[in-house]
Amino acid sequence: MMKETVLVSGGAGYIGTHTAVALIEAGYDVVIIDNFSNSEPAAVEGVEKIVGRKVCLEEVDTCDKEALRGVFERHQFNTVIHFAAYKAVGESMSEPLKYYQNNLVSYMNILEMMKEYGRPNVLFSSSATVYGDAEQLPVTEQTPRQPATSPYGNTKQIAEDILHDCCRAYEGMRGIALRYFNPIGAHQSALIGELPRGVPNNLVPFITQTAAGIRECLSVFGSDYDTPDGTCLRDYIDVNDLAKAHVAAVARMTSGKMEQRYEIFNVGTGNPVSVLDLITRFEKANGLKLNYKMVERRAGDVPAVWADTTLANEVLGWKAERDLDDTLRSSWEWEKRVRNIS
Ligand code: UD1
Repeated sequence: MMKETVLVSGGAGYIGTHTAVALIEAGYDVVIIDNFSNSEPAAVEGVEKIVGRKVCLEEVDTCDKEALRGVFERHQFNTVIHFAAYKAVGESMSEPLKYYQNNLVSYMNILEMMKEYGRPNVLFSSSATVYGDAEQLPVTEQTPRQPATSPYGNTKQIAEDILHDCCRAYEGMRGIALRYFNPIGAHQSALIGELPRGVPNNLVPFITQTAAGIRECLSVFGSDYDTPDGTCLRDYIDVNDLAKAHVAAVARMTSGKMEQRYEIFNVGTGNPVSVLDLITRFEKANGLKLNYKMVERRAGDVPAVWADTTLANEVLGWKAERDLDDTLRSSWEWEKRVRNIS
């Protein structure tokens, strides 16, 4: 039987590489598109080493519509997973146009090509950021979205709405938006992982860089929140589990089982973990001590958000499986490999 091919935009990135591995391991072929604006060709080589074969790579900027058209001319596929986007919340506040331009133009180009070439299935990378400071926890897919507090967050909301509109209007189009909670960890081989450029914004890369001695001290943003230990609560999802949620969503789209043409799923563990808990678990799992201090709250952070994952569990038949301590060990193994620490 011919293998189904999946186009993976941003496939050299953190979630993209892990998803490419999961797809190939599940029997799909992948075509990766990436312009390496925030990733390295070595990431694709990491994927190839893990799966033991070459992976098709198109070095194309998805904002370049004619170049993207070439990809659609050269490859036959029914499904795209669109990861390619900028994701730094703070930068999006100071450079909104950069974010609207890149994240929305690339996305519209993908959608236009899918429509023009009659390719039906679109899986979009959304984020728990759409829930903002939710009134009820855990959040379900029915929990109302809150007005976005950053251009980055706004691009996620707008992109969800665009997909919804397209699926309603174009009969051949089906869409799934996966709302990721906080992806962490790395592949167990340590051949792929998260590699932020510059000072990390996210908690776990900051933790591992502090452990590696690249950062002197980890700042815990806020210890006076109305939470059990005063620090924020988040739902940390292993990136390999998250990758498998994409495989489940692709299977749902390609099997024709979707009940509505546009569906949304939360992808998290359902377990809230505080910043302090995460630090302690990281220290214990890896047998080391972190230098950290409590500082002021970070603007824009919500006190708590975690997922109700019932829908993904029941409809996608997917659930988070990896143990948090193993995940935190994988983060450290990856950092050590990247920094040549034994
Ligand atoms: C952030 C973004 C979110 C985006 C997601 C993916 C914000 C407000 N939200 O989520 O929109 O979808 O990343 O990249 O930026 N923390 C520290 N010290 C640090 C870093 C983080 O204490 O050095 C704390 C934060 O206050 C937060 C938790 O760790 O409570 C997780 O932070 P982070 O990893 O940045 O993720 P989010 O803010 O949840």
